[in-house]
Amino acid sequence: MNAFTKIKAPVMPQPTELVGFSLQPSAQSNRLLELRFSQCTVEAFIKAAAQWSVQALEYKSFLRFQVANVLDEICEGTLRPVLVNVLTDRDSGGLLITPEGLDDVTQAEDMVKFSTAVAHLLGRSNFDAMSGQYYARFVVENVDNSDSYLRAPHRVMELHNDGTFVNQITDYVMMMKIDEQNIEGGNSLILHLDDWADLEKFHNHPLARRSMRWTAPPSKNVREDVFHSIFDTDEEGRPTMRYIDQFVQPENFEEGTWLFELGESLETSNKKLSVRVPVGSFLLINNLFWLHGRDRFIPHEGLRRELMRQRGYFSYPKMAYQHGQSSN
Ligand SMILES: [Fe+2]
Repeated sequence: MNAFTKIKAPVMPQPTELVGFSLQPSAQSNRLLELRFSQCTVEAFIKAAAQWSVQALEYKSFLRFQVANVLDEICEGTLRPVLVNVLTDRDSGGLLITPEGLDDVTQAEDMVKFSTAVAHLLGRSNFDAMSGQYYARFVVENVDNSDSYLRAPHRVMELHNDGTFVNQITDYVMMMKIDEQNIEGGNSLILHLDDWADLEKFHNHPLARRSMRWTAPPSKNVREDVFHSIFDTDEEGRPTMRYIDQFVQPENFEEGTWLFELGESLETSNKKLSVRVPVGSFLLINNLFWLHGRDRFIPHEGLRRELMRQRGYFSYPKMAYQHGQSSN
């Protein structure tokens, strides 16, 4: 058990009535819930947040919490407990969030503000070294010259967790669709750890707890190697995972072949969910017990997808506990 997973997540009093949004299971799975903000809520938020630019949110980090407060107040305080309870519920931990009416690339600034508000009701988004901000916007195009599979369109990006090559815990991952042109395929692929048939086999293996070395390619702007095991446990002894195939550096034959077997098992799992995320919507998942990846795109010379991500740590209401991490 590591220092970041000892704290038991509090269950907040669940509101009897939701104000400004709805919540229901997704078509794909009862684990993934769909949260829809009404157009009325979205418009009220955009209006109230118009006084702050995204640049202001970048420069003054406390404003990220204030926009969160604005959104929760519009929802009469019913949003925050739902977000915290769902994201920390081991049986779920995943949301597909749709703010109605926020669905065009010309609203990109409002999309960043809206998603920032949601994230900061849960915790705080970590510094993203790739962008130098607390979030990153990036584009996937038909031709890719990058140094990882993040922006490579014509192949599957394998299932992984985020934050494996930084010395900060990454409790949540948020992936928002800002724009899409000429896109066929490229669905998000996600897998809940407890749906993976080989979980026990790999989690109980001696290599599961061996500290391994993780390095990032130059585009990630992270120079130092970090060391941690792939598996850990949460406060109730359930497995958690920090794994990505591209950045783990096995020390020897034994580790290399075990990692290969683990990757094959994940990729062939028949419990992967394939989720289409419309423009303006975003996935928000617990990064310690959900893996995520992306399906391949059908080639098209005008293919363009713009995404925004935020990754961060939970900070529960009224908790004295501090993660003691540095952020920008
Ligand atoms: Fe990722």
